[in-house]
Amino acid sequence: MTLPTMIRVDPLHPELAALAPAAEALRQGRLVAFPTETVYGLGAHALDPHAVAGIFAAKGRPATNPLIVHVTTLDQARALTRSWPQAADQLAARFWPGPLTLVLPKHPDVPDAVTAGLPNVAIRIPAHPVARALIALADVPVCAPSANTYMGISPTSAAHVQRSLGARVGLIVDGGSTQVGLESTVLSLLDPHAPQLLRHGMITADQLEAALGIAVRSPESLVTSHDTPALAPGMAERHYAPSGELRLVEVIPEALEQGACVLRLGEDEGSRELVTGGLEITLPRDPTRYASLLYDALHRFDMRHAALIYAELPPQQPAAWLAIHDRLRRAASPPPASP
Ligand code: TXA
Ligand code: MG
Repeated sequence: MTLPTMIRVDPLHPELAALAPAAEALRQGRLVAFPTETVYGLGAHALDPHAVAGIFAAKGRPATNPLIVHVTTLDQARALTRSWPQAADQLAARFWPGPLTLVLPKHPDVPDAVTAGLPNVAIRIPAHPVARALIALADVPVCAPSANTYMGISPTSAAHVQRSLGARVGLIVDGGSTQVGLESTVLSLLDPHAPQLLRHGMITADQLEAALGIAVRSPESLVTSHDTPALAPGMAERHYAPSGELRLVEVIPEALEQGACVLRLGEDEGSRELVTGGLEITLPRDPTRYASLLYDALHRFDMRHAALIYAELPPQQPAAWLAIHDRLRRAASPPPASP
């Protein structure tokens, strides 16, 4: 198996000459994995349907699951849409570049493959210097899901990408570990007067409401609605999941099964081997730091083929823990019954 080519760059001041081949590959319709501030993305030229199809093939992702388009300027973001409400300007001014994705009516030039046939497009201006430099150099909008196989754990390092996708991606830009660590907050502005949160992220509903001056509907309000598949495509219950069973518990059991792994809360990060054969990882009791380290912990359990992982439930407050609860709950939900 041929391994992907790794291009290592400085995370804060990426060398443009080193990024040039990756930008050229994107322009030519090839796939390139790259760091954003949230997770690594598997990027393709968003206006090239053939390139976009490559993403679905590489990930094993259902065609019904739309992609986020990444750009570097507001003008480019607007050009992807048919209409641009004032609410989008307010949020862009406050949160872009950053881990917020906005869903808006799509411009006819955006291929159906990107939006899974929906009339709406998800757009984000990422903050990571490497993502920004790469997209600016490529000079095309870049659609990018998280750079992992379908339903796997999102990657927060280049090594995670390589482990998950292997030769299915030709080029990986290595810009170190990502900062935020969880996927972006996704907000639908299809009705700008009733913004609908579709996915929790580290930008919270409270922050969005403060910027907009109006209420934001929670993703939970969609769960029982008939419109869920159309409004929130790709929010399959199990997601971001390790291959073993993850059990969310109030208290880690005293007596552990042989080989069981443990994810604890503590003052500082750390890890140790347990006498019962498992790995115990401690993550800080601080939502920002916890979020940035969570997926790496799940990847480490996965690398050991842990069959059982106990994860200590984090606190409910402050609201920044919400996105973490959401990802833990998804990781803990049982795999879909095989047909
Ligand atoms: O942080 C992130 O958002 C990362 C980095 C790479 O930017 N990307 C990411 O992409 O998490 P992905 O494909 O794993 O999740 C994209 C989600 C979809 O599953 C779907 O829920 C929502 O964004 N989405 C995308 N396009 C949409 C659309 N047209 N309408 C509604 N939701 C959409
Ligand atoms: Mg994903």
